[in-house]
Amino acid sequence: MQNFLNNGIAITGSGSAVPATSLDNQLLTELVETSDEWITSRTGISQRQLALPPESLTTLATDASKQALAAAGIKAEDIDLILLATSTPDDLFGNACRIQAELGAIKAVAFDLTAACSGFVFGLVTAAQYIRTGVYQNVLLIGGDILSRWVDWQDRRTCVLFGDGAGAVVIQANESDRLLGFSLKSDGTQNHYLNLNYEGTTKQITPNINVPIGAYHPITMNGKEVYRFAVQKVPEVIDKALFEAHLSVDKIDWLILHQANQRIINSVAERLNIPDHKVISNVAHYGNTSAASIPLALDEAVRQGKIKPNDIIATSGFGAGLTWGAAIFQWGR
Ligand code: UT7
Repeated sequence: MQNFLNNGIAITGSGSAVPATSLDNQLLTELVETSDEWITSRTGISQRQLALPPESLTTLATDASKQALAAAGIKAEDIDLILLATSTPDDLFGNACRIQAELGAIKAVAFDLTAACSGFVFGLVTAAQYIRTGVYQNVLLIGGDILSRWVDWQDRRTCVLFGDGAGAVVIQANESDRLLGFSLKSDGTQNHYLNLNYEGTTKQITPNINVPIGAYHPITMNGKEVYRFAVQKVPEVIDKALFEAHLSVDKIDWLILHQANQRIINSVAERLNIPDHKVISNVAHYGNTSAASIPLALDEAVRQGKIKPNDIIATSGFGAGLTWGAAIFQWGR
């Protein structure tokens, strides 16, 4: 992708954090009518981690961020911008400022970005724009979610799928541009397939004014439709990002998809002709951690020594909105 201002970006460090408490498939059978066999064969998920107080989005995101800063070798005071991709903030007014305070990132402006399971990819592209225009040099991007707060634990169609976590990356101005291509998409006409809706009942505050007072209600999902959407749109959007990057699919070293379902991961890899040994997956251990899933998988693979400097990574997020997007980037400076 051409960079007119000659201000490239590089992802220079990663970190991740998951809560301490595990919930395996067997334990779920005590809650709803399901089985380890059903969950494993339909999703690939064996267990998930759940955030229990005093764990919060702030604590998980802060832990992940500290690791990412250490890996990148920069101090919190050097961060210009903190972007927190989340749909499950500790505070609906925004959670990023709490993380800024915890880190002591005194110079940083901080705000939340909501794009559900596409949040990390949308955040990566957003961060890149601030750097490419020369406005900021050092961006901390966090993907974090605590969907266990918003799951109906009586609904077997959704409660078996989700888990909690956070992942973070440091994105810095760099001579060569390591974000090679991207494509982002939204389709609100399919919004009703996956929701965490606000619902209010009216409260009369004056004789003529009734205001809705309510709460957010647990996740509802049409799994079949979201599945169909994912296996069709994700290969398309990765192809588009590869086209932007002027790369053919065989140049990809690693495929890191949003970790929603092992069957979706397998199907996308197959459609793109990407062999299994290039596909990174940890959905078995953490379930669907929404905006956290890509940076969590990325960080694990970096720490395991799988992903090495200059490796080319294709990543794609997809989910509520509906939103989806892909980015092709090279690891490191
Ligand atoms: O991050 C956001 C993106 N979200 C996703 O990517 C989710 C995409 N969708 C999926 O991953 C899959 O559609 C699911 C894993 C959610 C469901 O798998 P499926 O193969 O599409 O199953 P289904 O919804 O067609 O359900 C098949 C059967 C149904 O029973 P009947 O109607 O055939 O008698 C369900 O009631 O399985 C039943 N079922 C379950 N049975 C045991 C649904 N959930 C469960 C369960 N345990 N947990």
